[in-house]
Amino acid sequence: MEHITYNQPTAIVIFGGTGNLAETKLLPALFDLYTRKLLPDSFVVIGLSRKELSHEAYQHFVHESILAKVPMSDEGALEKFCTRIRFASGSFSDDASYDAIKQELLAFDTTIGQCTSKLFYLAVPPNLYGEIFEKLKQSDAMALCDGIGSWSRILVEKPFGSDLNTAEKLEKQLCELFTEDQIYRIDHYLAKDAIENIISLRFANSILSDSWNGSRIESIALRLFESQDVSTRGSFYDGIGALRDVGQNHMLQMLALLTMHPADVHNAEAVRTSRLTAIKSLVMHDTDLRFRAQYDGYKETVGVNPASETETYFKIGTHIDSELWKDVEVTLESGKALNASFTEAVVNFKPMDKCMCAAEPDVHMHRNVLKITFSPEQSIRLTMWVKEPGFEFKLQERELVLASHEGEVFRSPEAYERVLYDCIVGDQTRFVSGAEVVAAWNFITPILESFKDIPLYEYPKGSSAPISK
Ligand code: BG6
Repeated sequence: MEHITYNQPTAIVIFGGTGNLAETKLLPALFDLYTRKLLPDSFVVIGLSRKELSHEAYQHFVHESILAKVPMSDEGALEKFCTRIRFASGSFSDDASYDAIKQELLAFDTTIGQCTSKLFYLAVPPNLYGEIFEKLKQSDAMALCDGIGSWSRILVEKPFGSDLNTAEKLEKQLCELFTEDQIYRIDHYLAKDAIENIISLRFANSILSDSWNGSRIESIALRLFESQDVSTRGSFYDGIGALRDVGQNHMLQMLALLTMHPADVHNAEAVRTSRLTAIKSLVMHDTDLRFRAQYDGYKETVGVNPASETETYFKIGTHIDSELWKDVEVTLESGKALNASFTEAVVNFKPMDKCMCAAEPDVHMHRNVLKITFSPEQSIRLTMWVKEPGFEFKLQERELVLASHEGEVFRSPEAYERVLYDCIVGDQTRFVSGAEVVAAWNFITPILESFKDIPLYEYPKGSSAPISK
């Protein structure tokens, strides 16, 4: 997509400025953008949290957070970056905190001598969103820009609600307070280079695009496997479970990119609408698989209910209600505490009608399989059938591999760099629209409901995926 830049003075406010997300992702991402010269020349980062810190103490926190993530950081650049950091102390429910932010923003405007653009990042637990939205609006902190060369935007982390009902309420509240072009709903999977590559693969290669439909494709399987268990996130995760945590958002977005109609990649609205149509087309038949399981020992995690029925693994089948994808079987599968960590899409093409089988009773299984691995390393593998060398006519399966090479000159931006950068330049392509959020919950909520009526299997930690019939 086009490389857009924005060089108007910008203030970045982080709600939850000393939290884990800020410490491990946002601050290092901002510094990386700074060293790549992708932040505006004039900017300030204002962290807000309940901690009592001076500006200097927060600058030290930022310095250490960045060094912990990137130990080889350019010390001179890091020192300079830290001079742009400010701190406001207070609770998110206290009006005084918003006044403190406003003062910092006004001080920046005064230094610059013009009305600057403002970005508000909500790096806080989702139960605080509603209150922060309201207070932000009431405080007028977002209105401190003239709307001519400057803007004000909010960046919101998932989850957006916990089912259709709560998501619709949150959306209603958001849309009453802000305009859609001010709201940047994050799904960091959309901001991953490897995942965006689905679009180039599908739409820039006629060999694939011509056969990317249900008459040539038999099934699509999406897997997001993690070896990491729930770890310290017990109290957050237990109320959510795997399907809400990664199914409703990351996996449906990947599936949307895999199955959406072609759209102009330079047009955010077109891409978002196309993804939306793809999500809206998902249907679940009674015969489609629903399977869920929990790893052994999960209930002993701190913060988890000892009688918890929360799934840490799921596998579901779905279909796409459109002529193009008729009868294609889609499965989504994800779990924690498995024996490997990877994210992949496996596209199984139908075999040729005619079999080049040997005379012996032979099974016609000569299908092409495209395996796109998104992480830990990006690779694209296509199995092909070729003649086995020799006097006999026999087919042999070989693999075409396209993998990212070590030492590549181009360094892919981290997802959070992309998120921050896109919000600053005003590109909403890699953000989820309100309609997409609602459509995704509309599909997932009945499945969550049905989960209550199916057994919860147990699997040992570190095992391969639990067996579903
Ligand atoms: C987050 C989930 O949204 O995505 C986590 O809350 C999950 O539970 C994570 O581990 C996976 O993201 P990534 O980028 O590590 O693959």
